[in-house]
Amino acid sequence: MKRCLSGIKPTGMLTLGNYIGAIRQFVTLQDEYEMFIFIANLHAITVAQDPKELKTNTKNLIALYLACGLDPEKVTLFLQSDVKEHAELGWILTCHSYMGELSRMTQYKDKIAKGETNITAGLFTYPALMAGDIILYDADVVPVGIDQKQHVELCRDIVERFNNAHGDTFTSPQPMTPKVGAKIMDLQDPTKKMSKSEDNPKGTIALLDEPSVARKKIKSAITDSIGIVQYDIENQPGIANLLTIHSCLSGQSIEDIVQQFEGKGYGDFKGVVAQGVFDFLTDLQAKHNEILTSKIIEKTLEEGAAKATLVARNKMYKVKKKLGLQVF
Ligand code: TYM
Repeated sequence: MKRCLSGIKPTGMLTLGNYIGAIRQFVTLQDEYEMFIFIANLHAITVAQDPKELKTNTKNLIALYLACGLDPEKVTLFLQSDVKEHAELGWILTCHSYMGELSRMTQYKDKIAKGETNITAGLFTYPALMAGDIILYDADVVPVGIDQKQHVELCRDIVERFNNAHGDTFTSPQPMTPKVGAKIMDLQDPTKKMSKSEDNPKGTIALLDEPSVARKKIKSAITDSIGIVQYDIENQPGIANLLTIHSCLSGQSIEDIVQQFEGKGYGDFKGVVAQGVFDFLTDLQAKHNEILTSKIIEKTLEEGAAKATLVARNKMYKVKKKLGLQVF
């Protein structure tokens, strides 16, 4: 069985973008692959975190993974910091990455372009840690949204470099992005990605938003003055984004939805999308709350860490031998 791995940072509130671009894929792939899904908490601390909030976000994330339909019987679900080999391999791969390639990563470049100061060294080197997350498990595929594809491609370069230098050691992973929904856009500025860290909460739907608040956000999403419900990403990015969201949540194709709204206005269309989001969040949050109050989170993380550690430890032993770090 081929291996599949992915992770999400427990920072801020998870968004509809994270669900559509990432978690939804994890759920459909869990029957086909040997899956490793983790909470990327070592990545979260590349920017300052309030420890209390980080703890709450971590619990919410694992509960959301389960509420979205990940089955701990099929998937190894774990916390990154529980498997110390991530940090260990991350360091080794930092020593196999070049400053030039790391400085070309979009996330870092964006921060520099915005004139942000206090960028940590961890934020700069984090793609090397991410490469370690993936190849520690010899993952064949990595389901991610478009924004993370660049990091998986860098991981492939690092694998090639490492394997050339030290002999065949790691599997080269393939990024996997969904055909529809790989980049959900901000509702108030549909030329920008919907993001957890967005300052304008009106543009972002958090998975734990009050469903009636989310409904309002969809109804007040920025559209255009063309007035025809059709998929035209250039001229109608707001409508294209709503069509994508509705298609992903309802399972209908974009073409079918466009047909249903032929001759109808944006008001009708937004009403239906908003109701779909409302129903989705209501159902998800009911499951989430039930999971949070049960003991399943603790048990899932404990068992997940044990399973992941077995694989990771075995791999690290081989890596250390190749590098001359393992003397006996
Ligand atoms: P993170 O936490 O920023 O995002 C988690 C996943 O959600 C996807 N995503 C989106 N997809 C569609 N539309 C959006 N608006 C949107 N926003 C986010 C992301 O593409 C991602 O798949 N570095 C990673 C976490 C990570 C990881 C890994 C992932 C650490 N190690 C190893 C895969 C494999 C991150 O910061 O994702």
